Amino acid sequence: MLCQYETELTHMINDVKKFTKDGKVADYIPALATANQNTLAVAVFDGTDTCFSAGQSREKFTLQSISKVLTLALAIMDHGEEYVFSKVGMEPTGDPFNSIIKLESHAPSKPLNPMINAGALAVSHLIKGANSEEKIERLLHFIRMLSGNQTISYNLAVAKSEFETADLNRSLAYFMKQHGIIEGDIEVLLDFYTKQCAIETDCHDLARIGYVLANGGKSTLNNEEIVPMSVARIVKTFMVTCGMYNASGEFAMKVGIPAKSGVSGGIVGSVPNGMGIGIYGPALDDKGNSIAGMKLLEAMSSKYQLSIF
Ligand code: DON
Repeated sequence: MLCQYETELTHMINDVKKFTKDGKVADYIPALATANQNTLAVAVFDGTDTCFSAGQSREKFTLQSISKVLTLALAIMDHGEEYVFSKVGMEPTGDPFNSIIKLESHAPSKPLNPMINAGALAVSHLIKGANSEEKIERLLHFIRMLSGNQTISYNLAVAKSEFETADLNRSLAYFMKQHGIIEGDIEVLLDFYTKQCAIETDCHDLARIGYVLANGGKSTLNNEEIVPMSVARIVKTFMVTCGMYNASGEFAMKVGIPAKSGVSGGIVGSVPNGMGIGIYGPALDDKGNSIAGMKLLEAMSSKYQLSIF
């Protein structure tokens, strides 16, 4: 069975790999610009002992925006749903992930959802910890539990590269500070946020993380609760409505899998009660989503009937 899946996944990769040529590797974070545009890899975990995979599925990449799903879960676990959603909204924006426009045009100036950069910064601000190091250690501990991989850490060079060039995120954060959404030292927040985005995983780690969310927040190792079921439900809802930013509607229609992308080219997918999926394909479309990764998910959804709709 395992071999059959891997053969099928390899065929699907071969079918959609051509789309990598139509995309572009992110370069606004200089350290991401060196990624190999042609890479396309996948791992799938269905709760049994092994992950099945195809392509360069052991290649590491940084989470980038995929981390927003995990900080949202941790922030709700830290503070409860009511407090978190007093700082960030629940509605899709239809705008690019780094847009400032709705912050200014909506009153109060609360970011519309936790998946856009403004919302993610407001959520990262809520993670408990005396300083940035303590916060990142708590987040890493959480991600190691979700993935079952104790070696997961962040890539300091990528974090530094983003920190030094994150002037758009800085402006979003200062804007929100002025409007009372966040408080404290913005440079400390940026330090944490860029480290959070620079956490490194491979497709197998992502597949296991996606599986825990799919499995109502329970670990596959001992069925222990890592995320309360209600929190797993909330984050999967945001994956559906906002996970692919201003492509979320089309993605829901064509693929129908709760998923979250990052500008490194990673995508985590979480098929409720079924499986976790990790994808890596650094060539992005103009909305910042892995161009071939989305095609691969579309092919998988169609072949294995994974749409939740
Ligand atoms: O804040 C940023 O711009 C990046 N660290 C993360 C953005 C991102 O991954 C958007 N995803 N598709």
